[in-house]
Amino acid sequence: MAVRSFPHMSRDMLELCGIEEGQSVAVLSQGHQRTDYVDAFLAAAEQLGAHAFNVRLPRVDGSLDGDVGTWEVGETPLAGNRRAIEALKQVDLVVDTVFLLFSKEQLEIQAAGVKVLLCIEPVEHLRQMFPTVELRERVEHGERLLSRAQSLRFTNEHGTDVRYRLGAYPVITQYGYTDTPGRWDHWPSGFLFTGGADDGVDGMVVLAPGDIIFPFKSYVQTPIELTIEQGRIQDIRGDGFDADLLTDYMASFGDPDAYGIAHIGWGMLETAQWSILATDRRGMGMHGRSFYGNVLFSTGPNGELGGPNATLCHVDIPMRNCSLYLDDEPIVVDGDVVVDDLKPRALRTP
Ligand SMILES: [Fe+2]
Repeated sequence: MAVRSFPHMSRDMLELCGIEEGQSVAVLSQGHQRTDYVDAFLAAAEQLGAHAFNVRLPRVDGSLDGDVGTWEVGETPLAGNRRAIEALKQVDLVVDTVFLLFSKEQLEIQAAGVKVLLCIEPVEHLRQMFPTVELRERVEHGERLLSRAQSLRFTNEHGTDVRYRLGAYPVITQYGYTDTPGRWDHWPSGFLFTGGADDGVDGMVVLAPGDIIFPFKSYVQTPIELTIEQGRIQDIRGDGFDADLLTDYMASFGDPDAYGIAHIGWGMLETAQWSILATDRRGMGMHGRSFYGNVLFSTGPNGELGGPNATLCHVDIPMRNCSLYLDDEPIVVDGDVVVDDLKPRALRTP
């Protein structure tokens, strides 16, 4: 099969986002970064008959530079640039090649009914995990199940058994494109999540060899036991190096809110690859967060869900081979999705 070029993918992406003749697309960029992405999206928008322009900011935010790829998001280069913000609020779709996630500028743009698509990952990752309408349908089925659940419990054979009281926070979906006004998404991704009540997460999480810790972008080698009471990590234990590393990292923030529990959900993208970090550490880690059947456990802030925890210490931990239950009904069993409507067609029961 011929490899799809980035310009070709950009056009397919804009079509998935519902862009058609007469609509408008703004591509947000900074400095000289990702000019190839900007050019491709502008050309694709024109091919579709849409009006397109580039908002290019002079200041470059370096928080995503380097190997680590951080989720610490404070001030964006858009902050204070009122004219640029207003321009972005006028269009149907903003393609963000900067990374506005969680910023008040992004929330203002979304509130104006603008669709926002984040696109900053390496081209190969964008290609490998290009989304489909079928992925969206499966993720939205998960959203229905998660929205009506009162409780979420997940376990693994290493001793994890933790329960979340649900209902306090909305469900957020990510399926890699957006054609819903005011909605944000990130190409590429394939998962969904919500949060437990602030004092409603209790139990034990045991990270096992092969689980991934972001932002470390590394695989756990030795088990780490996290004791959680009333939505807080009370204790981090383990005989190996990994427990020391996580303990030191979290302590370095000097912030009690670092020990809060953030979002919880599961991955649904069968084209995402768990083992990718063995050979490819580029990007923010969307393979790791999205791979099929992972339970995505995370600690720290819950501002993206509307919660009060605003700590800068955010750790995302995709875990393998877990079982996840909603109101005690199995959704994922030993790392495999077991609900037919959540599976890719090829994996469904005939
Ligand atoms: Fe996260």
